[in-house]
Amino acid sequence: MDTESIRNAYRRYARIYDDVFGRILASGRHAAVARINRQGGRRVLEVGVGTGISLSDYRRDLDIVGIDLSLEMLTVARNRVQREGLTNVEGLLEMDAGRLAFADASFDVVAAMYVLTVVPDPQGTLAELERVCRPGGEIVIVNHFAEDKPGLRRTVERGLAPFSRKLGWRPDFTLDALLSGSRIEVEAMDTVPPFGLFSVLQCRRGAAASGSGNPA
Ligand SMILES: C[S@@+](CC[C@H](N)C(=O)[O-])C[C@H]1O[C@@H](n2cnc3c(N)ncnc32)[C@H](O)[C@@H]1O
Repeated sequence: MDTESIRNAYRRYARIYDDVFGRILASGRHAAVARINRQGGRRVLEVGVGTGISLSDYRRDLDIVGIDLSLEMLTVARNRVQREGLTNVEGLLEMDAGRLAFADASFDVVAAMYVLTVVPDPQGTLAELERVCRPGGEIVIVNHFAEDKPGLRRTVERGLAPFSRKLGWRPDFTLDALLSGSRIEVEAMDTVPPFGLFSVLQCRRGAAASGSGNPA
């Protein structure tokens, strides 16, 4: 999907997102935030923060910045921050994950939950996540990755590929494809419900600078 189609889709989903996807996708979010919460005192960027459904789960001694392409999703997130008094949320900004307006190495942790298969250029977006993460920092990803071994699951996933535009995700998307050209190291990977369809990846940004040259 291009960014305009994504904006249009999430303009429609904003009001119903938490009711429809809140519980279905909860396990991956909880597992990702639990990993981030292991260490406090850090600055965290949540890319594709959506309605801010995870914001209240973060430790209060973390500084959280959220970005999203959809103003309507961000409005729900901003209302949540106000309602729940989430003073650890430093800002919620309208921004494209593929062109982050942050300087290199601005964050200790960068999280992307259920986002990388929605964006038009997943590898380019991952490079941006890597750029704004400090050397040695953590990148936490929750995503569906297609099964690359033959079998029923792979057949179903490939059959769904033509409908990806409607679904807003890519059923045929593999982890190898995402990581090709990236220098992040995957340190841990768990599968989570429903049906083990989603994976939680804990990754480390290598110490060498990856700077894409994007302006701060
Ligand atoms: C499936 S929702 C996931 C929301 C949230 N992370 C969660 O765990 O429920 C995908 C989110 O990514 C956002 N998004 C899609 N493409 C984006 C982009 N290029 N830049 C920033 N956000 C994007 C959408 O607006 C939407 O809020």
